[in-house]
Amino acid sequence: MARETWATRAGFILAAVGSAVGLGNIWRFPFITGQYGGSSFLITYLAFVALIGFPAILVEFVIGRRTDLNPVGALRELGSGAWSYAGWLFVVTGFIILSYYSVVAGWFLRYTLIGITEGFTLTDPAEAEALFGTVSTGLDTLLFHAVFMLCVIGIIAAGVRRGIELSVKVMVPAILVLLLGLAAYGFTLDGASAAYAYYLSPDFGTIAANWTEILPAAAGQAFFTLSLGMGVMITYASYLGEDRNLAADAGIIATLDTLVAVLVGFVVFPVLFSVGIEPGTGGPGAIFVSLTSAFAGIPGGRILGVVFFGMVGIAALSSAISILEVLVSYLIDEVGVARIPASAAVGVAVFLLGVPVTVDLIFLDLYDLLADGILLVLGSLLLALFVGWVIPHVGREELQKGIADLGGLGDAWIWAVRIPIVIVVIVSLYLGIVDY
Ligand code: PFF
Ligand code: NA
Repeated sequence: MARETWATRAGFILAAVGSAVGLGNIWRFPFITGQYGGSSFLITYLAFVALIGFPAILVEFVIGRRTDLNPVGALRELGSGAWSYAGWLFVVTGFIILSYYSVVAGWFLRYTLIGITEGFTLTDPAEAEALFGTVSTGLDTLLFHAVFMLCVIGIIAAGVRRGIELSVKVMVPAILVLLLGLAAYGFTLDGASAAYAYYLSPDFGTIAANWTEILPAAAGQAFFTLSLGMGVMITYASYLGEDRNLAADAGIIATLDTLVAVLVGFVVFPVLFSVGIEPGTGGPGAIFVSLTSAFAGIPGGRILGVVFFGMVGIAALSSAISILEVLVSYLIDEVGVARIPASAAVGVAVFLLGVPVTVDLIFLDLYDLLADGILLVLGSLLLALFVGWVIPHVGREELQKGIADLGGLGDAWIWAVRIPIVIVVIVSLYLGIVDY
């Protein structure tokens, strides 16, 4: 059977945006931003998205479109020796990320349901904390993890066009519309102006004093949020049938993903400030605890909460499918397994790997630290070294396609890939490990 391709250019872009926009923007971004001092983190992160994130998307795009293969096959075709094994790293990373991603997505489904059936009534943070305890661990958590994985498996089993492309055409516009509505509401809240000040006034002193922490956190977040370092963008670009302008597509993806992250700040921080909660206590549960108690205390909080948590669930789904697709495309291309059994088998394996996370949040920290702090960054480093130093001619040739006049952009891109990405990643890995 011929390998599938996207039906439309919009389908490809929406799928990539759907992958990028997810828990990273909505759950991880606000709590990390809170942890590292608001605006100082924001500005470092924005710089990284532009300087290393955008070129790194193109690295994956050129590999995927060149080979029309899954990441393992693609690296084997383009590289020799050890390079051909680098793709394996992506498979491992994909398993780990998807397993905890699905558990956390399940929390959001659960909170959406709580909002619908009971509403958010716990203004006392201690009670909200207790609720988070029951949501985040135990048998029910496992059930929601299973439900979420079933949705992911269903979409991937249906294929590139009928599964991924069709679903993202609904999900991505829905996410954007809901988020714009929420941000407009955030604007009307009492805490809005204090929140904007906290979020937007850059504080270079804080960056200078804490750069050893801010730098690796911002770099890790930049890769995570753009779905880089584990072959998602390689896989999605491998379904491109014709030669389009990859740089334009990468620009749209990076811009929309960043816009969503920034907009989420415009929702979350006003909500917190209007009930007097200081962001920055940090931790994966903090956002749930503080938001549920905030939703209990502001007008329209119930609807706001249901829409917010529901939107995050959709965003998580459109990202999770891209991770499963990497693993499934590997089995289809390399092992010759059919799509439906491949989706089911990998999905079940991922589900099992996620089980420990539903038992103890320690595993969430462990998986997240391993995946985001080390594996994704390492994956991006290898890809940058490979394209920048081993096959720069191939990269440049691919980038050139569909662009009338690349001008000096080709060189600028190759050098951004050769040096800045490599330096930032190595420094981040070093600082991250020292810190750990
Ligand atoms: N980009 C996604 C987010 O921000 O939630 C997370 C993600 C998806 C990371 C796919 C890595 C990946 F391969
Ligand atoms: Na993201």
